[in-house]
Amino acid sequence: MKSLLFAANWKMHLGPGEARAYLKAFRARCPRRDGREVWFFPPAVSLEAAADAVRERADLLVGVQDVYWEPKGAYTGAISAPLAAQAGAKAALVGHSERRHVFGDTDEDTQKKLGAVLAAGVTPVLCVGETLAEREAGHTLAVVHRQLAAALGGLDGAKLGRVTVAYEPVWAIGTGRNATPQDAGVVQRAIRTWLTSHGAAVTRVLYGGSVSLTNIVELLAEPELDGVLVGGASLDAEGWAQLVQTPTG
Ligand code: 13P
Repeated sequence: MKSLLFAANWKMHLGPGEARAYLKAFRARCPRRDGREVWFFPPAVSLEAAADAVRERADLLVGVQDVYWEPKGAYTGAISAPLAAQAGAKAALVGHSERRHVFGDTDEDTQKKLGAVLAAGVTPVLCVGETLAEREAGHTLAVVHRQLAAALGGLDGAKLGRVTVAYEPVWAIGTGRNATPQDAGVVQRAIRTWLTSHGAAVTRVLYGGSVSLTNIVELLAEPELDGVLVGGASLDAEGWAQLVQTPTG
């Protein structure tokens, strides 16, 4: 049986008290199950509360949504990977579409952040994906390959094997318009091929973008998919617990 990862990106929602209440409700509604892991990416201010709330459950883990690449110093407002780790983060999103498109993170910034995350012993979840204009111009695979090469190009196979990649087409994020499992599968296969051809023995490739209770069954049926990275549909503990428990054929 394939193991599945369900990752919840809370974005700018759920402060420490709300995170505690959410995770208490989630734990009650979603018992541990073999072959399923659930990762939560709360806002940085809620990391410690969330990490405390999942401490008893080996299948649950907490990660940070973004880090700055320097380990410490005079960088007002920024959070480093070692600081996030101290607060309980075991994973980190790197290169999320909102970092790239709202905050202007470049491929080079993303590469530096990914290196900092690995150096801190934290698991990176590298997000890649094309815009609608890039898809319509037929550039999807070229864009994804460019993003992979920029962020991961210099890494050896051992380090590559520690990286989870999430394919999140920009046009599918928060729009209610998800990629079809087949379309996502083509890109995920290309990502896996890139990783293995660069020496990764282990690969984990997720899909993100308008994942919900209405499309999760067909998405999980796609053989290329190792899990999902979910924004909006992860914000309600009950609905998220239901999504995580979706049966697979
Ligand atoms: P939505 O699930 O809200 O489309 O967000 C996806 C996402 O950006 C997860 O990182």
